[in-house]
Amino acid sequence: MRMSKLSVHVRKRPTKTLNMKGLMVQVSRSLGRTAPLLRRSIHSGTRPASTATLTRKAERPVTSDDIYAREEKYGAHNYSPLPVALERGKGIYVWDVAGNRYYDFLSAYSAVNQGHCHPKIIAALTDQASRLTLTSRAFYNDVLGAYAEFITSMFGYDKVLPMNTGVEGGETACKLARKWAYSVKGVPRNKAKIIFAKGNFWGRTMAAISSSTDPSSYEGFGPYMPGFELVPYNDIPALETAFQDKNVAAFMVEPIQGEAGVVVPDAGYLTKVRELCTKYNVLWIADEVQTGLARTGRRLAVDHEGVRPDIVILGKALSGGVYPVSAVLCDDDVMLTIKPGEHGSRGDGGREAVGKCSEDGRGSAVGAEQTSKDIVTTVRGKGLLNAVVIRETKDYDAMKVCLRLRDNGLLAKPTHGDIIRLAPPLIINKDELQECIDIIQRTIMSF
Ligand SMILES: Cc1ncc(COP(=O)(O)O)c(C=O)c1O
Repeated sequence: MRMSKLSVHVRKRPTKTLNMKGLMVQVSRSLGRTAPLLRRSIHSGTRPASTATLTRKAERPVTSDDIYAREEKYGAHNYSPLPVALERGKGIYVWDVAGNRYYDFLSAYSAVNQGHCHPKIIAALTDQASRLTLTSRAFYNDVLGAYAEFITSMFGYDKVLPMNTGVEGGETACKLARKWAYSVKGVPRNKAKIIFAKGNFWGRTMAAISSSTDPSSYEGFGPYMPGFELVPYNDIPALETAFQDKNVAAFMVEPIQGEAGVVVPDAGYLTKVRELCTKYNVLWIADEVQTGLARTGRRLAVDHEGVRPDIVILGKALSGGVYPVSAVLCDDDVMLTIKPGEHGSRGDGGREAVGKCSEDGRGSAVGAEQTSKDIVTTVRGKGLLNAVVIRETKDYDAMKVCLRLRDNGLLAKPTHGDIIRLAPPLIINKDELQECIDIIQRTIMSF
């Protein structure tokens, strides 16, 4: 079977233009509908992954026991769920596959504070998802600014940095604290320390487990992140001792330790944390991923003491549990220490690409030969993931090409200054792809 290749041709159109058969082979391969392209080694399995998928679909379980067994067989064993197989929820109730109704007294660890299938949240989700699914942060969209204005005025901070999971919110807060320590506080490079309270839980990433005191979280996953130190929870003298170190950037703490077993500190603890952080010029990061958004009876748990952290992390119920959404709130002096390109999440995934599918199998280097060498130095990629490398001059660079592509009706984003990633949705058809190639050709040749 011939392999299809995609490349951008800007000088002239080759005699063999798009080959959709080749394209679809490429696309379906990447989706795993035919023989999988990615294998650990040729010995890694006797059965193609796609066959496995089909078999699994056919074995649809109906009883709770079937459900436990299937999950046990095909899912990683990183949880040990209570044996109850749920299939629907409404408000405070959930139902199992046998039709038994239960009060949900976990609320997905506070992710469904608003109850299951809250009609307003589901309506907002389906409305937005069916209007515009995802833009990434490569482009502006009509709702992010409105959301940012809403949440910052609700919580009284200058800015918000949206992330997906709670643990990413924690990672973001730690990165902000380190950046702030180096660029504002004057901590020597790579010497910043972040203090955590023993018994904390803020997720499962390498950074999160590096601050954990729970062996089941960290054991067997070393080496750990340096620059993290621990003090006992609810212990102000220990915190003050730790703050004697001038390299301390931040203290990250849950107002009530959730996973540790709902450990409530003494009244006045948070007030004293605030005072000490101010006195020693240390950022106070409040992890309100579980306690925030009304879980403790106030909008934030810190509101019980009327104190204001420097950084607040929200997650879980921020989306009503329907989608992983977290947020980091702080003021400009901290938030603006992170510059474009220095941090992000899904936003980094949006550099679009379009290429030309040629049937000859010579690959993207062939496309490069036919490219205007003055402007495009390289064309590379596979399937519908391609990139053109733009030579930078005073007249043009990748950003200028992208702006002109935009004016011509095609959105792509530069990366590393000189590369344009071209990656349209895989459902693009032959005629649409040809039109995009024409736009790219026309745009590049217009410089
Ligand atoms: C206080 C706290 N912070 C952070 C997290 C991590 O959130 P996520 O699971 O969304 O990454 C959790 C999760 O339970 C949490 O309880």
